[in-house]
Amino acid sequence: MRNEPLLNARGVGKSYATGGGRVIALHPTDFAVERGEFVMVSGPSGSGKSTLLAIISGLLTPDAGQIEVLGRDITAMGKAEADALRLESFGFIFQGFHLLPALTAMEQVSIVLRRQGLKSRLADTRSALALEAVGLGHRLKNRPDSLSGGERQRVAIARALAKRPQLIFADEPTSALDSTNGRQVAEMLRATALEDGVGVICVSHDPRLEVYADRVVRMEDGRITDPGVRKEAYSG
Ligand SMILES: Nc1ncnc2c1ncn2[C@@H]1O[C@H](COP(=O)(O)OP(=O)(O)O)[C@@H](O)[C@H]1O
Ligand SMILES: [Mg+2]
Repeated sequence: MRNEPLLNARGVGKSYATGGGRVIALHPTDFAVERGEFVMVSGPSGSGKSTLLAIISGLLTPDAGQIEVLGRDITAMGKAEADALRLESFGFIFQGFHLLPALTAMEQVSIVLRRQGLKSRLADTRSALALEAVGLGHRLKNRPDSLSGGERQRVAIARALAKRPQLIFADEPTSALDSTNGRQVAEMLRATALEDGVGVICVSHDPRLEVYADRVVRMEDGRITDPGVRKEAYSG
């Protein structure tokens, strides 16, 4: 399974017109992720990390370049097809958790599974299992306002994992957390890559989390300055 990228982006770039002229958020960039690889993208604020992540996950259209995901060119897809691919195969985790305030932990997860077409009984069972797997079996009925920051992020992780995605995209998932919870999140992402063969791309400016990554990609001023070297092969 090695050398067969799950995701392969070539020459993707993005610039914005601003009052003071054009800002290049991302110079034309190549980026690939293999099965079972946990890639961390690190760099100072404003270096283009979120832009790269949004482009390769299909949330933002690049000015140029091509992105193949699971052997399909997402830059050539229509909106409906790209939305369906994202729903089916991608998990997202953000800094601000993006939970719905009115829903319990269980409902946050099961609503996504139902949108994927699962019957509600099966969606509930899978939601409970996913929440148990992140250590929240005792918090199934809690709403976000009665969960700690670490617990909220674990709900978001359970929501991303429950649909059994092929790729997970995480943008600063630990930056609102203390270091213990931050490490736990990084460990869960690493385990997901290693055990389930998922490709995980995690943007972070916390150098303490780099030890968990298989590869660290460094960015500066809208460019990848170091693509990093993968530490070990996925053996699944
Ligand atoms: N919508 C936008 N309009 C104008 N400039 C933007 C926009 N999004 C990002 N940028 C600029 O692009 C650069 C990279 O931003 P970003 O990808 O958010 O960096 P990072 O995630 O590493 O902090 C920054 O200079 C930022 O100000
Ligand atoms: Mg960012």
